[in-house]
Amino acid sequence: MISAEVAKCKVRRRRETAPRRQPARYHAPLMRVLGLETSCDETGVAVFDAGRGLIAEALHSQVELHARYGGVVPEIASRDHLRRLLPLVDKVLADAGTARPDAIAYTAGPGLIGALMVGSGLANGLALSWGCPVIPIHHMEAHLLAPMLEPAPPAFPFLALLVSGGHTMLVGVDGLGQYRLLGTTLDDAVGEAFDKTAKLLGLGYPGGPALARLAEHGDPNAFAFPRPMLNQPGLDFSFSGLKTAVMLQVRASESRGALDRERAGIAASFQRAAIDTLVTRSLRAARQERSRRIVVAGGVGANVLLRTALSQKFDGKVFYPRPEFCTDNGAMIAIAGSLRLSDALPAGTIEARARWPLESLRPPAPT
Ligand code: KG4
Ligand code: ZN
Repeated sequence: MISAEVAKCKVRRRRETAPRRQPARYHAPLMRVLGLETSCDETGVAVFDAGRGLIAEALHSQVELHARYGGVVPEIASRDHLRRLLPLVDKVLADAGTARPDAIAYTAGPGLIGALMVGSGLANGLALSWGCPVIPIHHMEAHLLAPMLEPAPPAFPFLALLVSGGHTMLVGVDGLGQYRLLGTTLDDAVGEAFDKTAKLLGLGYPGGPALARLAEHGDPNAFAFPRPMLNQPGLDFSFSGLKTAVMLQVRASESRGALDRERAGIAASFQRAAIDTLVTRSLRAARQERSRRIVVAGGVGANVLLRTALSQKFDGKVFYPRPEFCTDNGAMIAIAGSLRLSDALPAGTIEARARWPLESLRPPAPT
């Protein structure tokens, strides 16, 4: 494991030592933003046009590369981003009918440091040669802005439930860059719990979608798994107890020679317990915040049970990105860049941070 201190890498030219730089050449109106996503195991590229919206988008998934290891191997992820990113940029720019964008947004963190360095390095290299600025983007902010790509986007303020492989957060969103962390997981992220449970059940990686598919054939009441922390006040989550309960059940079923028969029931009961926990906590947060709008984003936001259960139980409006924009993608980085144009930096300002608290963000610089 790389320690947070070593992993945190923020390379900025210091004012006092840097040679006097030419102001970046921002002559063109900043209209077309190229977005690059490389924080984990998806290489995502997109162009967002301020006037026309999303005009081109492509994704390369590394799922097959990592599947044989049962999880993401950081070194393999970085090398594959390196291989895939430039051809994807060429393709997306061709699809967008543009030779060069007006600015390049890239995921600067949080994520795997090597993978982030690939996106950050390429973004800055291209920006230097094209004479355009760069916009470092927070991956989780991009997730929560992804519903803005849809025809009926949410207005601020809203409550956000961010559920991915690395995060489970309830966030009070007062405006762009104004985030209050209301609750988070004390141990595993919910996506991680899906992935680990899927592994216990012998399903492939990533486990979330495979587990959800298996659950369709099982009885969600077959096993009484715990809904962790639901009886306690506050808005935090915990999924390790649920994971342990599933592990004990898998062992018990196995020892009776009944695992094959009971796998779908275990998957459905796990999914129901995990989603009940997310929904109950989100409703409590919405009551506390007096919020009429909930945004659900991040990979687990693609889960159909979560989408239907929350929409049925919440008496306000729930906003989701389309399922393919719940998981990592370039479109969310491009739109986040478009909304943060005033934060554009001169090319050569490389940023990559393995850890980066969402609450530390600020609203975009005044224009
Ligand atoms: O946002 P994301 O693509 O990457 C991170 O930033 O972590 O989220 C990936 C996570 C994985 O844990 C994956 O298993 C989970 O989202 N996931 C799902 C579903 N689709 C993806 N979990 C439950 N149900 C799904 N349909
Ligand atoms: Zn993500």
